[in-house]
Amino acid sequence: MGKLTNKYAVVTGAGKGIGKAIVKRLLEDDAAGVAILEMDIALAEATAKEFDPTGDRVIAVKCNVASQEEVHAAFETVFAKFGRVDILVNNAGITRDAMFHKMTVDQAKLVMDVHFFGTFYCCQEVIPGMRDRAYGKIVNISSVSALGNIGQANYSAAKSAIEGFTRTLALESARKNITVNAIAPGMIATDILNTIPENVMKEKIASCPMQRLGDPSEIASVVSFLASDDSSWITGNTLIVSGGMKMKP
Ligand SMILES: NC(=O)c1ccc[n+]([C@@H]2O[C@H](COP(=O)([O-])OP(=O)(O)OC[C@H]3O[C@@H](n4cnc5c(N)ncnc54)[C@H](O)[C@@H]3O)[C@@H](O)[C@H]2O)c1
Repeated sequence: MGKLTNKYAVVTGAGKGIGKAIVKRLLEDDAAGVAILEMDIALAEATAKEFDPTGDRVIAVKCNVASQEEVHAAFETVFAKFGRVDILVNNAGITRDAMFHKMTVDQAKLVMDVHFFGTFYCCQEVIPGMRDRAYGKIVNISSVSALGNIGQANYSAAKSAIEGFTRTLALESARKNITVNAIAPGMIATDILNTIPENVMKEKIASCPMQRLGDPSEIASVVSFLASDDSSWITGNTLIVSGGMKMKP
């Protein structure tokens, strides 16, 4: 028996990076099944195979979370395989950084579509079943950039939208024993940081009280906590997981 025995999970954008570490951790905690909803299906299939060569416990489903049609079709596949979803982790994400005076509307809309609407569409697929069964755990991946970050007006707004959405969905779902929380990571060593110039990276690391980047497993462990009954009295929260960066009072 593990913390997540008999639980079925969906993790979006889990072909690599933080999402991949989340899948690994949920499996270590004995989740019965995990579906990877991912735009890059080759990546997702490789990850699924790495963790479960049989395909019984981990499935890869092609899905651009910014498309409501693709999200709906992907969840039909997941429900056909697992029957239900107990845990949803909205993790898929991109950046399109630019100073606001150079940012295009397309850059803003794309980031909002992937982060906010991707989270919205996925929640719409699982909430009805969770309400019927009076059980559910939703974990949305935000960012400390929601508090403001130069070059990320679009991303900061999208992550702030996710945090407000998290609080409201938590309020609406509390009586149905569904918890909805967010995690705001600081800088975690994944490919998403590749576009950040080296000098900016050095400054960011120097400004982090723990003086290092986080490891994806250090987000996955918090997801595991929020996805388990160990956190049964926590809902509507955004947990900052950042090595001390951007503490809130
Ligand atoms: N790495 C960090 O420093 C950091 C900090 C704060 C928050 N985050 C957030 O963590 C989450 C994961 O980021 P990461 O660092 O692992 O990035 P990553 O680039 O390593 O992985 C992101 C994954 O999401 C997938 N993806 C992108 N757009 C998608 C879409 N429309 N539909 C489905 N899948 C899509 C990509 O194919 C990729 O596999 C994101 O929401 C990101 O905003 C990351």
